[in-house]
Amino acid sequence: MSQTSDGVFELVAGPSRQKLYSNEGVESDLWSYNGSTPGPEIRVKKGERVRIKFVNNLEEPTSVHWHGIRIDNAMDGVSGLTQEPVLPGDSFIYDFVAPDAGTYWYHAHNKSWNQVARGLYGPLIVDEIEPLFDDQHDLTLMIDDWRLAGEGAVDLASLGSLMDWSHAGRLGNWLTVNGQPVPTLKLKRNDVYRLRLINAANARIFEIDPARINARVIGYDGQSLKDAVTLNYAPLMIGPAQRVDLIVTPKNDFTLDEISGDEPFPMINFEVGIESGNESDPVKLVANDLPEPDLENAKTFTLDMTGGAMGGFVEIVYQGEKLKGEAFRTSRQVWAFNGVANLAESPFFDVNQGETVIIETINNTGWVHAMHIHGHHFKILSRSGATVDEGEMWRDTFLIGPEQKTKIAFVADNKGKWLFHCHMLEHAAAGMNTWFNVT
Ligand code: C2O
Ligand code: CU
Repeated sequence: MSQTSDGVFELVAGPSRQKLYSNEGVESDLWSYNGSTPGPEIRVKKGERVRIKFVNNLEEPTSVHWHGIRIDNAMDGVSGLTQEPVLPGDSFIYDFVAPDAGTYWYHAHNKSWNQVARGLYGPLIVDEIEPLFDDQHDLTLMIDDWRLAGEGAVDLASLGSLMDWSHAGRLGNWLTVNGQPVPTLKLKRNDVYRLRLINAANARIFEIDPARINARVIGYDGQSLKDAVTLNYAPLMIGPAQRVDLIVTPKNDFTLDEISGDEPFPMINFEVGIESGNESDPVKLVANDLPEPDLENAKTFTLDMTGGAMGGFVEIVYQGEKLKGEAFRTSRQVWAFNGVANLAESPFFDVNQGETVIIETINNTGWVHAMHIHGHHFKILSRSGATVDEGEMWRDTFLIGPEQKTKIAFVADNKGKWLFHCHMLEHAAAGMNTWFNVT
């Protein structure tokens, strides 16, 4: 992406038009960064300072969140918590350091259920100090799930449907990768490629089977593993906001399928051409340096998730008041964390910088959720009913099924006010949102 001579990226949010259904079909009215969805790939090196001049040409306030970056709190981009939203016509300079190499992304963080659904997101790639691949062999694949109507334009009328908010979130009926339906990518036989999959959907969980294409996993949520892993299970679920990095050495044409349905649904076609003849070096992974949780001296907090359709009646406190009757409909708050919908004045917890935090999340709803922590990566300590061993990995978002209990741990080494929320964006808007304070 273009930088000005002093190294500042320019990112402009505004209305745009794009064909999502097919190259011949109708255009959708979208909102995007720099005129197309996904927005431009911002690419920096580990440890580098990133400066972005953000301009808001939308008709509503917005802000930009740098998902997964262990960032300076003031630059986290959460409207109403870490900054005032940027008003129409205004601009804001984001200025931060990207401490970890890996696959990240940026997206709007004001009314995200609306702004992200309309296309306000893009990839943020942090290269290793010695990049593992050249750009021909390093492919970013941003997957989205759109709800199209009529001739194939995005269905704007159904945005904000209370049905979506209280059920599984806004699910679509059309899939794009880098803004295109089933793109075809050309690869060279026997070269090694890195595929960076990013789920930018509001609520859809994508399921893949890396083994079917002889791919190995090298990272999750921006954090590299120490060694490439061949999964001995499928499906591999990629929840909203999650990332998976794969390496693959193509022999013949292949397709990466989404496999949650009865029939595999093609996401990307890979056309494999002739051999380049260049020897590829073995891939040498370098994990980022993250602080190991100190479980002996940890503070434990419990998060009880309730609400949603089929959840039975639950008491919800919103903005300090218990919701009754009509107030449920007018406030649109249908989910709660520890009985509270959305951000209360006091945090879920307060800890000192450097303390280890264990959060036990109990999903007492009938739905699956994708829980995201801002500013930190965590390890999963336990997961009730887990049937597969996912090994040791750092994540910034975890999936949790109905009735499931999951324990995570991390060192709260980053000062500030941080969100902990469901990344199914309708769930977050309808109550699944809290915050914690590191001082
Ligand atoms: Cu992708 Cu609150 O974040
Ligand atoms: Cu959720």
